[in-house]
Amino acid sequence: MSKETEPDGGNPSCAAVIVAAGKGVRAGGATPKQFRHLAGRSVLQRSVDAFARHTGISELVVVLPEDQISGLGLQAGDRPLQVVAGGATRAASVEAGLRALAFNPPDLVLIHDGARPLVTSRVISEVIDALSSHPAAAPGLPVTDSLWQGSDAQITGLRNRDGLFRAQTPQGFHYDAILDAHRHGDKSATDDIALALSAGLTPAIVAGDEANLKITGPDDFRRAEQILSTRMTPRIGTGFDVHAFGPGDHVTLCGIDLPHDRGLSGHSDADVAMHALTDAIYGALAAGDIGRWFPPSDPQWKGAASDIFLAHAVELAAENGFGIGNADLTIICEYPKIGPHADAMRARLADIMGCDIDRVSVKATTSERLGFTGRGEGIAAQASVLLEAS
Ligand code: CTP
Ligand code: MG
Repeated sequence: MSKETEPDGGNPSCAAVIVAAGKGVRAGGATPKQFRHLAGRSVLQRSVDAFARHTGISELVVVLPEDQISGLGLQAGDRPLQVVAGGATRAASVEAGLRALAFNPPDLVLIHDGARPLVTSRVISEVIDALSSHPAAAPGLPVTDSLWQGSDAQITGLRNRDGLFRAQTPQGFHYDAILDAHRHGDKSATDDIALALSAGLTPAIVAGDEANLKITGPDDFRRAEQILSTRMTPRIGTGFDVHAFGPGDHVTLCGIDLPHDRGLSGHSDADVAMHALTDAIYGALAAGDIGRWFPPSDPQWKGAASDIFLAHAVELAAENGFGIGNADLTIICEYPKIGPHADAMRARLADIMGCDIDRVSVKATTSERLGFTGRGEGIAAQASVLLEAS
């Protein structure tokens, strides 16, 4: 499962310009390809969603045909969204999108084809990351088939494929440089990397993704639907954690402080239940565990409230296209008694995860005075979570 967002902030601002002002002639059909539906959502809305849920993107511009700029009902979550009219060529459409950002320019901009609805957060993150050390960056796939020269259905020669790549989007740039390249560049350029090269920039290539196809011909809808059906399979994860009792007058479980004659020891607030739940979400995403994202060796997490960890895991899930289906948590201890506080815990967890309380279960069991929990040496918790494609 892809995902690269780091929990710390301080990144440069990065806008996304999504171009969707083409006619989609090759795809055929009465409606241009970007407005047709793929598994219940338009191709363009899916492209917009990939950027609107990525934590590295601060605002979006969507470039549409002049006669479509109102009434499409595009959604960009909590990110500012501008909609502007495009031009006769892709380059003209991109330039219109870039100009819409000029009033309050971002540091970086990613330019994406609205006809590539399956772009992943991994690809978006890698392009953004590469821009910290390069003036431009884009995903590419090495050419693996042999290349022929041909005419009249006959092979007339061979081409060397070494060093050749298939270009994808998003293509990322420092905003000022790409706006300048568009203002002075060749209006017939087929993509923005071409303009960056003519402006003397050396773009980096990041790993592309076979699934990040550009819907071009009629068959591409079927291919995209196949890829989507695999991605929409729900994900399941489990988590388990233990903290020992230590000195203190309360324990924090699911974000709720319960008076107790001892506390729980640990690097953060030692909320063993929230840690198990957080690890279940990371597990469902195959994204490691809390220790990978918030290393205990890092002093900034000392005494930290564990809702930071849970919120990060939920954000990571959203970035990968998943929301909380349901979560079920079991706390294992003799004392304190959990039952009277279970609903408050469910409400707190639902609040952090941004889901309905009906999707969150908190229950407890003793271990019949057996083992370390039975002897009152600590508290254990286990969690299961189901993530649903959102
Ligand atoms: N695009 C655009 N403005 C144009 C031409 C293209 O915004 N004047 C956009 C398309 O909407 C698409 C992306 O650029 O998201 C890539 O272009 P392409 O795949 O060629 O789309 P179309 O031009 O719409 O398709 P066709 O060439 O088959 O007509
Ligand atoms: Mg075209």
